[in-house]
Amino acid sequence: MAGRERITVPDFREKKQRGEKIAVLTAYDATMARLLDRAGVDALLVGDSLGMVVLGYDSTIPVTLEDMVHHTRAVARGAHRALVIADMPFLTFQTGVEEAVRNAGRLIQEGGAAAIKLEGGRAVLDVVRRLVEVGIPVMGHLGLLPQSVNQIGGYRKQATKPAEAEALLADARMLEDAGAFALVLESIPPDLAGAVTAAVSIPTIGIGAGPDCDGQVLVSHDMLGLFDGFVPSFVKQYAHLSETVVAAARAYVDEVRDSQFPASPNSVADVHRSGR
Ligand code: KIV
Repeated sequence: MAGRERITVPDFREKKQRGEKIAVLTAYDATMARLLDRAGVDALLVGDSLGMVVLGYDSTIPVTLEDMVHHTRAVARGAHRALVIADMPFLTFQTGVEEAVRNAGRLIQEGGAAAIKLEGGRAVLDVVRRLVEVGIPVMGHLGLLPQSVNQIGGYRKQATKPAEAEALLADARMLEDAGAFALVLESIPPDLAGAVTAAVSIPTIGIGAGPDCDGQVLVSHDMLGLFDGFVPSFVKQYAHLSETVVAAARAYVDEVRDSQFPASPNSVADVHRSGR
């Protein structure tokens, strides 16, 4: 594939067949989407982590379909090569197949996403089947399901017992049979993630699931060190942007207070942002 060609859903399966690892990051706005796209990520996930790292909620539960459509549209405007995948938020796909199709359709039609992601295994198979039937590609999500945080009682590793691991492996196979094109595996033991990866022909994208997945996804605010709330232990911070932002803003505040910024009018070119 040429360097700047748009990544497609079939490319995901081909990458697995070729043994090429898949790099996914989350994005929530056009500027960040443009930068991450330029860095060469394969897919931009407009995750409902939006609620926690952008909107200031303490879980993903309050995120609405309107929020997701709005932010997906922004990401789609910034992404030129990466596949844009939009998360279906809580209660937009659990209340019936028809409603799920309508809501997923909005993320594709109004948001400009090429695919959607939804959480769950056997409980969502009818929805997955119907979405795929009507032409909406689906990424599954197993393991830690943040939309079920009230049921599981916290953000902790899942499928640690043999029976749970068996159930997750069966869910992965069922999602593949239902037509999912890829699976996120979140916070499960690495050996289980490796077993799922070997058992299905669609790519697995791990987060806190070890190295034996077909690809990895991280929340961009976590890996860039931009989110200064709780950062999960499996995250590698490739930058510490929160410190850079605070230092830059502090320098600006100091310069304004000391009348150092702006510089004297004669030394400043009068170029407006839109005129660059
Ligand atoms: O919402 C999100 O960002 C996600 C990823 C953590 C996989 O679901």
